Amino acid sequence: MASGNRIAIVGVTGAVGQTTLQILEQRKFPVSELRAYASARSVGKTIRFKGETIPVEVVSEDSFKGIDFAFFSAGSEQSKKYAPHAVKAGAIVIDKSSAFRMNAEVPLIVPEINGGAARDHKGIIACPNCTTIVTVMPLKPLHDVGRLKRVVATSFQAVSGAGVNGVAELREQTIAWTKGEPIKSKFFQHQIAFNVIPHIDKFVEGGYTGEEIKLVNEVRKILAIPDLPITPTTVRVPVFTAHSISVNAETESKISASEARAAFERFPGLRVYDDPAQNRYPMPIIVEGQDDCYVGRIREDISCANALNFWVVGDQLRKGAALNGVQIAELLI
Ligand code: A2P
Repeated sequence: MASGNRIAIVGVTGAVGQTTLQILEQRKFPVSELRAYASARSVGKTIRFKGETIPVEVVSEDSFKGIDFAFFSAGSEQSKKYAPHAVKAGAIVIDKSSAFRMNAEVPLIVPEINGGAARDHKGIIACPNCTTIVTVMPLKPLHDVGRLKRVVATSFQAVSGAGVNGVAELREQTIAWTKGEPIKSKFFQHQIAFNVIPHIDKFVEGGYTGEEIKLVNEVRKILAIPDLPITPTTVRVPVFTAHSISVNAETESKISASEARAAFERFPGLRVYDDPAQNRYPMPIIVEGQDDCYVGRIREDISCANALNFWVVGDQLRKGAALNGVQIAELLI
């Protein structure tokens, strides 16, 4: 491989790990060595990167000697267990799990919003939850224009956000349905094909779910508004890739729909896709595979003087995870 950085990907066989490989290649990230890590289940598998075949190895405490950047997307437990060893070995950890996100010492970064804070890292930089990233991207330019006062967010989340098992379950259930066979649910709490499930992560305090509380805490940390009132509902839908979020944002000062549109258009990483007369609005089938988050259905709230409704869709494997992680590494090289 060419000169560049020595990279480790922990969780390389997963949905985010695979997308990280693609994005490193697509963005021509300078890589001199790539080490591919997963669990013992993946021993014997290989991955392809820049024309080379690389064996998947079992991650261990000793996996990180000489590594510059370690991308972690193997879940919180693995991050908690191995990220400290990666840091000790001198690597910068870019962690996709929730393990360190709310740790005051760990920057929680969306490069377009608070990229500068990445340089304050002490070895670990956290990537926000995928729904948080897609939601917070359009909130930032609105906050800059009119100061956010309250946010109501309802998500429609793709099955690949739950990893490769989520993708397999939607595919298997859909095939079973077309054949008239019984539908088995092994991974999600209920049938996901031809259904929606208003339950992602465990139920926690007040009837909210862990996914919803992550959205609240993470949006507040990224925007540096620790007491921003946010009320979320997160829902799993039978879509393979790209999360959609219906957002109602109330601001201190009035922002018209056309001012909001202009603010979204100016913001890097957002694309306004909003022409109702032509039936043009963001949808997962349009946004899958794209780097930008698409915003549409931009309208003033008819029930509240200083509030807007809009609909934002982002490929949660790309901007919601792998792309955001690679962008963080790009900030640092
Ligand atoms: P494996 O394929 O060997 O199970 P997803 O989020 O798409 O489900 O992917 C999860 C990723 O995390 C996979 O690459 C998976 O590897 C990896 N992983 C899960 N458990 C472990 C573990 N105990 N040690 C290392 N990697 C793990």
